[in-house]
Amino acid sequence: MTQAERWATRLGLVLAMAGNAVGLGNFLRFPAQAAKNGGGAFMIPYVVALILMGLPLMWVEWTMGRYGGHFGHHSCPGIFQSMGRSRFWKYFGALSLWSCLVIAAYYLYVESWCMVYCLNSLVYGFQGMNVDQVRGFYDWLTGQRDYELLAISGWGMFFFALCVVVNIYILSRGLAKGIELTSKIGMPLLILFGAVLAVRGLMINQELDPEAKASPFTGLNYVWEPKWNQLGDASVWLAAAGQIFFTLSLGMGSIHCYASYLREKDDVALAGATTAFTNEFCEVILGGTILIPIATAYLGLAGVQEYTQGGSGFGLGFFVFPTLFNKWGAFAPLAGFLWFGLLFFAAITSSLAMGQPIMAFLQQEYGYTRSRSALAFGGLVLVLAVPVAVLHQNSFFDEFDYWAGTVMLVVFALLETILFAWVFGMERGWNELNKGAELWIPKVFYYIIKYVTPLILILILIAYVAEPQGGWHSVRAHNWTSWEFSSGSMIGKILHKDLDERLHKALDENQQKDEDKRVDPEKIRSFYAELRWWRNVDRITMVATFVFFAVLVYYAWRRREIREAGI
Ligand code: PHE
Repeated sequence: MTQAERWATRLGLVLAMAGNAVGLGNFLRFPAQAAKNGGGAFMIPYVVALILMGLPLMWVEWTMGRYGGHFGHHSCPGIFQSMGRSRFWKYFGALSLWSCLVIAAYYLYVESWCMVYCLNSLVYGFQGMNVDQVRGFYDWLTGQRDYELLAISGWGMFFFALCVVVNIYILSRGLAKGIELTSKIGMPLLILFGAVLAVRGLMINQELDPEAKASPFTGLNYVWEPKWNQLGDASVWLAAAGQIFFTLSLGMGSIHCYASYLREKDDVALAGATTAFTNEFCEVILGGTILIPIATAYLGLAGVQEYTQGGSGFGLGFFVFPTLFNKWGAFAPLAGFLWFGLLFFAAITSSLAMGQPIMAFLQQEYGYTRSRSALAFGGLVLVLAVPVAVLHQNSFFDEFDYWAGTVMLVVFALLETILFAWVFGMERGWNELNKGAELWIPKVFYYIIKYVTPLILILILIAYVAEPQGGWHSVRAHNWTSWEFSSGSMIGKILHKDLDERLHKALDENQQKDEDKRVDPEKIRSFYAELRWWRNVDRITMVATFVFFAVLVYYAWRRREIREAGI
């Protein structure tokens, strides 16, 4: 059985939870999503999603976690089962183990890049390099080449494995000496590093930096100036909601797991709100003041938009930023160290939060020791990580991010709100949430959690599944009979419509290039054909991974029954 683990101090818990939520999503994904979706046009749906989904779900997850923890459950199969009567809840809970593992498989890869870039900034530096050269470094590290499916880099894999080992080591030290200690060191440093970069960034002006094209405040204004006229675009709402889930670590059982180590009467109301607040501070204040304003100052807004089309922030963060730091002269190596160090701390305190639920499950249900379960987590991650690392990012990496890092969060969140408000009962749930509360939560949240949150989640799911070609705003009465799914909708994705679209775009772009830079169109075609094949393999792998967890849960409960019958 598990040793009863607890957080050592209240500050430690707050920092660990903040570390869980504050991650790459805050510093790369958020600015890129904001830039891609119209800056100020994105921020309104973002704030609405925070209030109607982010905050309520944060409270729900903390409450469920503490409740389940009271019965000795530290991962969602058990937590869900302790709240719902039907036997199926534990399998829904297993979805959380699945999401955590699948997300960890690509998240840890990016984490390892941050580690390498951080060290490289100090040791060799990116001085004198232009964007193509820094991109060359990235390609060396990831083994990535245009239109080549295999992307093997020995060093890239070495550092990836090293990063996994560091995570295993920290996890094996236990809650207080591992996760809590790492967060106590990492979080303050992260905020310090971010503050230095933000201040230096805002100081950019043409006198000090002759190469600056614009004021960094142009970038800030772009993100902050509300644009009310674009509110009708459903895809912006979806992007905003997706960002809120990802950045707050909602819908994957990670918050439940951390909260399950609380005592019965410990407050969750104030602590949950603090987690959300800290995350938002790090996201909109720090994250919003670094990437976009600095990049805008040197590249102009159009340049920023060009690099953020993918919405991941990798282009700006990993190809462009090191070259911008070069404009800061002697400060450049340190700036690079601070930026990638910040990303690394943000990432590691989040990847630990993906490992802990899986570890807790193995410890509790299969009697694994801490070290053994940490190793098992590392082993499982590596199995999924190999294809992520050796194949082009458009295959496993992107698919994991879409299905586990976007869609499943919403599905899981819907299931948990139904469980909390309708199965467990809103009255009981509200009392649970307010037990030991150090913050008065307005009663309107009672109704939001019960009606509004689930309703919006259902709408989002419908929007994800069936978005029509041309977006929702293009729907007219007469299209109902000839509905065509967009390439970004879930059904479009399943049918690989997005790949067809990209293939055509790539062929067109290739055609427009100078003759000596053109690639054989056949190469592009066969790349996309292979990609399609591998995406199917990837989907089978994801389904198999879920079945694996479901079987583990099944046997865990058989063992439980036998144990209980024997007593
Ligand atoms: N919230 C983290 C981020 O913003 C991501 C995360 C996902 C953390 C899953 C924990 C669990 O990057």
